[in-house]
Amino acid sequence: MIEKTTKIRNDFQSRIASVTGLADLESVHQDFLGKKGRIQELMQELKTVPNEKKREAGQLINACKQFMESLLEETQEKLEKKEWENKINSTGTFDPSLLISREQGSYHPITLIQREVEAVFASMGFTIEDYPEIVDDYHCFEALNIPPFHPARDMQDTYYLSTGQLLKTHTSAAQNYIMRKYGAPLRAIFPGRCFRNESTDACHENTFFQMEGIMIDENISISNLIYFMKVMLSEVFGKPVEVRLRPGFFPFVEPGFELDIKCLICGGEGCPSCKDSGWLELCPCGMIHPKVLEYGGIDTEKYTGFAFGLGLTRLAMMKYGIKDIRTLNSGNLKALSQFN
Ligand code: DAH
Repeated sequence: MIEKTTKIRNDFQSRIASVTGLADLESVHQDFLGKKGRIQELMQELKTVPNEKKREAGQLINACKQFMESLLEETQEKLEKKEWENKINSTGTFDPSLLISREQGSYHPITLIQREVEAVFASMGFTIEDYPEIVDDYHCFEALNIPPFHPARDMQDTYYLSTGQLLKTHTSAAQNYIMRKYGAPLRAIFPGRCFRNESTDACHENTFFQMEGIMIDENISISNLIYFMKVMLSEVFGKPVEVRLRPGFFPFVEPGFELDIKCLICGGEGCPSCKDSGWLELCPCGMIHPKVLEYGGIDTEKYTGFAFGLGLTRLAMMKYGIKDIRTLNSGNLKALSQFN
């Protein structure tokens, strides 16, 4: 056993000495420490060692394993460093942020919540779609039944480019594109960053995140929408959440609603985050207006659908108890890295 372990250890050292890259290192790792690796072989053999020698042999194998693990780690660090140096030398540029090791970073609370919600909807058959931040007037407004000079535009002032394009004010801007891309029946969610020309306070920001969802099929009604929202919210908060529906007006849905959730920061008592109302507007929603379906090329005789525009930023504030929306864009690592 001693001889065999020493041989394996030597073989390991010579393999490590000739490793040229990270992929190569991974195969050494598998060959020696993997499920069918040589250490595993030794462990099998240990069973046949007489009882009085088992302990010693076990310690020997363990020491060998630890030696391998630390050498693998050390080599990995060296190789990674070398790869960065090669990259820097070949491009001639140096970005210090790239050298920060993965353990030091953390996901932004919005990313965390986005992934969680995506997983819930994906498990219910929704696809996850991406869409640009710079859009045209047609997609952001007209295809959503908001013609030029419609008063609904007043609430969604945004940043215009000299090309006539604009920064999207809501994720609804992708509805038309997605309807045209897939046709009916359709289930999709599309998260995204949105922009509005607003003054900021504890609950308003000029840059925030939404997640739009649409479901189009035969016989879809508002009860389907309520079902999906309840499932999603109870998954995200890990307990049933109190919600209420109020009528709401949006030109692209009929009927339209506001789905509110009881403020989890103050428990409904009233605080600055919920404008002292005890409730937070979380998710405007409704049945997609037939005109919007038509613009999207959907047969309105056959299909109906619901849409919702979930406030991802609000949801993150609720879930993590973030009192001021401005924290999220602040770049304050101390505040933002505590939720992972
Ligand atoms: N796009 C709207 C906004 O940002 C929110 C919205 C309302 C989205 C109703 C929807 C909806 O999908 O059905 O103000």
